[in-house]
Amino acid sequence: MATTTATSAMRAGVPAILVLSAFAFGTPAMGAQNMREGKQVVDTVCAACHAEGKDGAPRIGDRVAWTPRLAKGLDVLVDAAVNGHGGMPSRGGVSQLEREELRSAVLYMFNYGLPPVAPPPEVAKADPRHKMVAGTDIYFGAMPAESLRANAATKASVPSGKGYYHLNISLADQRTGAQVNDAKVTLRVSDGMSVQTSALSPVRANNAVSYGEFFKLTSGGAYNIQAEVTRPGAQRPIVTNFEFRAP
Ligand code: HEC
Repeated sequence: MATTTATSAMRAGVPAILVLSAFAFGTPAMGAQNMREGKQVVDTVCAACHAEGKDGAPRIGDRVAWTPRLAKGLDVLVDAAVNGHGGMPSRGGVSQLEREELRSAVLYMFNYGLPPVAPPPEVAKADPRHKMVAGTDIYFGAMPAESLRANAATKASVPSGKGYYHLNISLADQRTGAQVNDAKVTLRVSDGMSVQTSALSPVRANNAVSYGEFFKLTSGGAYNIQAEVTRPGAQRPIVTNFEFRAP
């Protein structure tokens, strides 16, 4: 069963890519020196139950199982991991684990296996954060800077000031489903009055690469996000548009 694919997340309408962009900062190079990575925490602690789904634990990478839980908010899940939840002991039974480490672990379990196959066309059409253009699946995500600031591993790279969002584009080849990690991506972000244009930087998380940058979105209105994607060897860039409303 294809439960461990991004397809399931897309089908359930969950911003998998959003979460991925937060996690992407949690690389050891940027994190605190003594911080355990999500993978390490999961492999050594959480997997004991979450690998097999013991007592109903949502399985690693099972986005069908994680999606409704994540809908409660990442912080709520991290709280549950800190305090214990149902059949799960506090901090997975290892009291030394810090909150940030648990957060990375939760993100790791949710994101595990991304990005897999391209979603079927009918699903793609229904998802406003996903466009298919010229053989490329293009996913848009946005994450408020506040939630990245809350994470010790990521906060150093977050601009100070109000109203910043990390806008993120993930790409997959439509035919093979493989992620596209060597494209150039530029975003043109407009609220109808002003325009901000910026080339996105590659954002790496485990095996996944996406593209992201911070934008200040303070108008309170709707933004048009125009993505320009140039894949290696392409004659001309792919251009597509997303709508985004900064809540
Ligand atoms: C001893 C088994 C066990 C271990 C170890 C364990 N979990 Fe769990 N976990 C569970 C079970 C069982 C559930 C489902 C509980 C429920 O929904 O009632 C769960 C659920 C969760 C949830 C969802 C909570 C919610 O609000 O829906 C999160 C988040 C979570 N675990 C994180 C972790 C993390 C992170 C680790 C490793 C540090 C970990 N767990 C280790 C058994 C475990």
